[in-house]
Amino acid sequence: MTILKIDSSITGEHSVSRQLTAAALAKLVAEQPGATVVVRDLVVQPLDHVTLAAFAETDVLDEFLAADTVILGAPMYNFGIPSQLKAWIDRVTIAGTTFRYTADGRPEGLVGDKRVIIAVSRGGFYAEGAALEHVETYLKGVFAFLGIAPQFVHADGIAVGPEQREAGIRNGLSEVGRLAA
Ligand SMILES: Cc1cc2nc3c(=O)[nH]c(=O)nc-3n(C[C@H](O)[C@H](O)[C@H](O)COP(=O)(O)O)c2cc1C
Repeated sequence: MTILKIDSSITGEHSVSRQLTAAALAKLVAEQPGATVVVRDLVVQPLDHVTLAAFAETDVLDEFLAADTVILGAPMYNFGIPSQLKAWIDRVTIAGTTFRYTADGRPEGLVGDKRVIIAVSRGGFYAEGAALEHVETYLKGVFAFLGIAPQFVHADGIAVGPEQREAGIRNGLSEVGRLAA
């Protein structure tokens, strides 16, 4: 059992998404004490923008494929994911390797059985399907291509005020607590 935790928030110890990914990791490790844990911090060790040459380096892809469970921190920056996280997505979403198109043009995931838990933290509040919400909707779509339906936990209203921030963190931690073992 290998758990890969990936963080992409630039706010260090103040980061809400990092708080949630840490809580999710602690829960999973408590439930599976023998698990191997791999940590990738996309801010401490940023990936370059993807290039054609970068596809020859498969470290990031291999690390993803080797994980049974992926815990991903996804803060909202300007309505989408951080560019640090986009550079990671660009290295694991690869036609012919992690997905392919069937004869009738449908995408088919090639990644196999993998659990993905995504901790979304957002400054405001976004109703499901809100026009400017490009974090959860985007990641849901990307992982669907790979054949994965991620589980999301959410901390919203983080930038609205101290009370909303606390309530958002409480909600996220309680969603982490309700994740199945
Ligand atoms: C560069 C930057 C851009 C942001 N853009 C948005 C935004 O477009 N919409 C929003 O609701 N919150 C926005 N926020 C607020 C963050 O989503 C919020 O603070 C969240 O908690 C960030 O995750 P973190 O605490 O893990 O860093 C932004 C924050 C930063 C630092």
